[in-house]
Amino acid sequence: MNELKIFAPATIANVSCGFDVLGLCLDTVGDEMIIRKIAEKGIKITKLVGQDLPMETDKNVAGVAGLTMLEKLDLNHGFEIEIYKNIKAGSGIGSSAASSAGTVWAMNELLGKPFTAKELVSFAMEGEKLASGTAHADNVAPALLGDFTLIRSYTPLDIIKIPAPSKLYATVIHPQIEVKTSDSRSVLKQNISLKESIIQIGNLGGLISGLYTSDYDLIGRSLHDEIVEPLRSILIPGFKEVKESAIACGALGAGISGSGPSIFALSKGKEMAEKVAKTMTETYKTLNIDYDVHVSKINSKGCRIIG
Ligand code: HSE
Repeated sequence: MNELKIFAPATIANVSCGFDVLGLCLDTVGDEMIIRKIAEKGIKITKLVGQDLPMETDKNVAGVAGLTMLEKLDLNHGFEIEIYKNIKAGSGIGSSAASSAGTVWAMNELLGKPFTAKELVSFAMEGEKLASGTAHADNVAPALLGDFTLIRSYTPLDIIKIPAPSKLYATVIHPQIEVKTSDSRSVLKQNISLKESIIQIGNLGGLISGLYTSDYDLIGRSLHDEIVEPLRSILIPGFKEVKESAIACGALGAGISGSGPSIFALSKGKEMAEKVAKTMTETYKTLNIDYDVHVSKINSKGCRIIG
């Protein structure tokens, strides 16, 4: 096997109460990539369609993630990458993570799987570091493992895959503005109070418990972000209105997707998730803001081969 065409999924990081530690994998939104073995050593990006991003290997997240993986190997060949972006950069649904994760996942498949999923996460994190200045794993881990993932620890890296209840659906609305992860990280405060951490830890524990027990009400009650959302939501036009409209419509809860500006809602059942999508879009129409909207079940596998 010398070539693979893959689907590299979009992801929702943080999921309200799990800043930098929790993420989930989407199923209907993602990029396509072709990864091919070539005689020349190293990584070459030969096509990048859909977004205006650098093609130089050391300036592109896919290139950097791939080079990090190559450093651990002694190969007499290299890889070329074609990237077909459907996920907009700066949208908050893991655009850089899809490219980084997709590259190392496909390279690993083509090489006969020399690396574990956890090792792949650490390579893909180098792509995230290039994109946002921080090697966070809450987008690349769900893109590689599927379902929800919890980063229990960064040093050493300890990742737990958490199964999603079968009726859980995500709705994501992306207002057509770009918010760089590095910018939305710069508005955060570096210290939090004991009171804030108690509220956040309670909700994170509640959400994890709700996922394991398929307790949709508990999932909904736990989708609360005491720390990050109040600071970041001011960067997102119509955030409060869209969030409130989703919950009033019947979503279990809603919040900022990753570093924004996308807003996500979780619902029980596809029908409700679609109803929530309609309500969220109506809210943006009233506010005269252009948007993209997606409804997706939770993807339990992560990256996959499509050809
Ligand atoms: N945890 C990261 C952040 C995710 O919120 O900055 C970025 O998608």
